[in-house]
Amino acid sequence: MTASVTGTTTVEQRVADLRDQIRDHNYNYYVLNNPTISDAEWDQLFHELRELEQQYPELQSNESPTQTVGAPPSGAFAEVQHEIPMLSLGNVFSREELDAWIARVYEHAGHQGLAFTIEPKIDGVAGSFLYENGRFTRGATRGDGRVGEDVTVNMRGILDLPEQLAGDPPDLLEIRGEVYMRRSEFAEMNQRKLEHDETPFANPRNTTSGALRQIHQTSEVDKPLRVFGYGYGRLVGSLPPDHSGYIEALQEYSFPTAPFFEVHTEPDAIWATYTAWLERRDELDFDIDGVVIKVNDTRLYDEIGTVAREPRWATALKFPALQARTRILEIEINVGRTGSLNPLAHLEPVAVGGVTISRATLHNQDEIERLGVMLGDTVLVERAGDVIPKIVAVVEDERDGSERAFKWPTRCPVCDSLIERVEGEVHWYCVNASCPSQLRESLRHFVSRGAMDIDGLGARLVTRFLDEGLIAWIPDIYALDWDAVAELEGLGERSAGNLRAAVETSKAQPISRLIFALGIRHVGAQIGELLAGEFRSIDRLAAAELDDIAAIDGIGPVIAQSVYDWFRETRNLELIAALAERGVNVSDGDAVVEQASDPRWEGLTVVLTGRLEQLTRQAATEMLKNAGARVTSSVSKKTSLVVAGEDAGSKAAKAEELDIEVIDEAEFLRRME
Ligand code: IVH
Repeated sequence: MTASVTGTTTVEQRVADLRDQIRDHNYNYYVLNNPTISDAEWDQLFHELRELEQQYPELQSNESPTQTVGAPPSGAFAEVQHEIPMLSLGNVFSREELDAWIARVYEHAGHQGLAFTIEPKIDGVAGSFLYENGRFTRGATRGDGRVGEDVTVNMRGILDLPEQLAGDPPDLLEIRGEVYMRRSEFAEMNQRKLEHDETPFANPRNTTSGALRQIHQTSEVDKPLRVFGYGYGRLVGSLPPDHSGYIEALQEYSFPTAPFFEVHTEPDAIWATYTAWLERRDELDFDIDGVVIKVNDTRLYDEIGTVAREPRWATALKFPALQARTRILEIEINVGRTGSLNPLAHLEPVAVGGVTISRATLHNQDEIERLGVMLGDTVLVERAGDVIPKIVAVVEDERDGSERAFKWPTRCPVCDSLIERVEGEVHWYCVNASCPSQLRESLRHFVSRGAMDIDGLGARLVTRFLDEGLIAWIPDIYALDWDAVAELEGLGERSAGNLRAAVETSKAQPISRLIFALGIRHVGAQIGELLAGEFRSIDRLAAAELDDIAAIDGIGPVIAQSVYDWFRETRNLELIAALAERGVNVSDGDAVVEQASDPRWEGLTVVLTGRLEQLTRQAATEMLKNAGARVTSSVSKKTSLVVAGEDAGSKAAKAEELDIEVIDEAEFLRRME
């Protein structure tokens, strides 16, 4: 694909070809949110093009992707002219390149010993946030850097974007920053998708980009968007003369900023911070793909200058790529705890961001078909945080005809029973409730951290207990022969004693955890809490009518049916009885009220819309949550109340249509008293 310039390809052709390729990839990345090459591969194409343009100045063109950023707007939104262009950043990847960059900055600034700032390079989507008299009036995407899209409506859905800046902001300030999702909130959202048997989102960045440019807001999933500010465009008024002062100003205005920010003069110190974050990137709750180094003194920016699309006074010091190419050797089908058939690709081992990976998830049959994956294919894999790596795309250009189609099984690959796929669901399930794979996986799930949390009883030990015949079903965990456990090789009295204590402790877990631990199809930790909150005992839950379960806010018909069906199986009732008999808590009692929530708000689902005068949206959201209400971003039949500020648009109208109470900010504050 990256053919070099040979006798048969003229430089001109190669430049045209590179420009086409890069434009296509930009479109796939920025508009379709569906990149088909890795960032590193894109960088390579881009560098080659830039080198050629520098070598052959007569081939330079304003239309070249080296002179613009991103992709032009798609036409779905109103255009926004960026009076001050939204620039991109150059990249450096090594200590040598960093030193060379610093030397160039010194040269253009005319002196050495400058102070540099270092902050995370957030892997999200750039945004422009216009504040007039401290009030948020317009949000835009970057687009191609000169013209972006007016996505104010979607930006208002960003959880921590202040509607009104605090303190004493300039009369007009266009804050620039990155919209992103927290990894934890992304994972929770995907968990909810899985519970609804939907295919999870691929990664936080693409989901963020999609959410910002989504045309109709749907009520299915509230996407937890967040923002960090790191720069500014238009300004009427004054700001501190250095970048570190600006970041502090943003904090005074209550505009979120990234959790680390340092100022250093010595290149060694910059490098040390970079390497520290390279090691610790997984500790952050959001994806970063490097750090950004900027000259601290803003007054020097004009002097140091900008080349094409990149300022010379800032650069990205990038981490090694988290995407890589490799080959699919085999596709294995695992049977999960609910009996779902889960395809897992075995890969030729490849290093991705310092970790070698040899497996990646393919989710389900539809995903295999969507990607068009064949055995032997070269694919693009991506690792994000600590989740299982996934396959992003097939590199079709690399096919040589030796690839083989993958045949989806017709029977359970573990126990050979029949498999079924319920209409509307994405997974196939093994119908055999005692399939050995289901048993092992359900045991592993039962003891896992989010479930009964039995410290020391991991997946490997569960498998050993099963193999040794020490347990045959879940309740056996609470009737283990501890002498036999102590005699297992590598365990001993002490480990067995600790394990026994952990098993004992787990008996007192709240029933929300027990409900989740039972492994009922579609029931995740959150649904477990909703059910526990409503019924407070397993007996009452088991006796509940389908309608009682379906009436709970947050539980749809598919989940309700699944819960109801689970408690109709004799085998499952026996399991509950055995757990209770062995001392596992099956009732939280009626007296426990955990939070000091407010009975007037408890359990309500509230939507905030429009501009609030006296509160930031974040503050209002927190007040509601503390009072026990749920805050969602779109109006549906399940909404209890809408709080409408100034210029409330379609949401207030929709609420009226659905006969949902709408109150203004003053009334909201009164009820909060
Ligand atoms: S400054 C003139 N700071 O990276 C400098 N950008 O590759 C403009 N980004 O378009 C950007 N974190 O979307 C800056 N701390 C940070 C950043 C950051 C992420 C993004 C931003 C930019 C892209 C350039």
